Amino acid sequence: MKFFIDTANLDQIQEAQDLGVLDGVTTNPSLMAKEGITGLDNILKHYVDICNIVDGDVSAEVISTDFEGMIREGEALAELHDQIVIKLPMIKDGIKACKYFSDKGIKTNVTLVFSPGQALLAAKAGATYVSPFIGRLDDISTDGLNLISEIRHIYDNYGFETQILAASVRHTMHIIDCAKLGSDVMTGPLSAIEGLLKHPLTDIGLAKFLEDYKKGN
Ligand code: E4P
Repeated sequence: MKFFIDTANLDQIQEAQDLGVLDGVTTNPSLMAKEGITGLDNILKHYVDICNIVDGDVSAEVISTDFEGMIREGEALAELHDQIVIKLPMIKDGIKACKYFSDKGIKTNVTLVFSPGQALLAAKAGATYVSPFIGRLDDISTDGLNLISEIRHIYDNYGFETQILAASVRHTMHIIDCAKLGSDVMTGPLSAIEGLLKHPLTDIGLAKFLEDYKKGN
């Protein structure tokens, strides 16, 4: 399972990279705004800064909602760095743009996916990644993890190569459950990744080992 971090915060991206388990980064316009990154030049520079920290794929989202605009923006983003993945919204023109980029060998991430049918369309359009938002489904009393399971089932039925990128991951158990269900990738906050480290018996055990070592030396 690949681990992506879902942030535009360079310090957190660096911290996850230093842990040695990071496979990529996802961003979105809200995450960029949260870091105060505004204006096209600053946004483009920030994507390059992110690519220079990590080795893997970095999703950069288009703002346009029409086909021509998405192609124009996506092509400019793809030129920035070979790690850039074009993130496209799950709307009609987004699917057309996904097909356009996948035919050109440019990686895509179809975002804002909330149903198995949407995920099926994204795979048919050749998406590299499909992003089901599990946390936002949980937020409205719908089972986000069930969507991962349904997409896994459909993709396996037909051998689709589109990778399931579980998005809107909010906490550590989401990561574990997505791994059990066979999600190819998860993207979440640093806190959810670091939560995987924690077990009180590890801390108690380590304290005892160190105490016993001191006694004998
Ligand atoms: C995915 O690519 C999105 O950036 C993200 O996972 C959305 O998460 P949220 O629902 O916590 O905003």
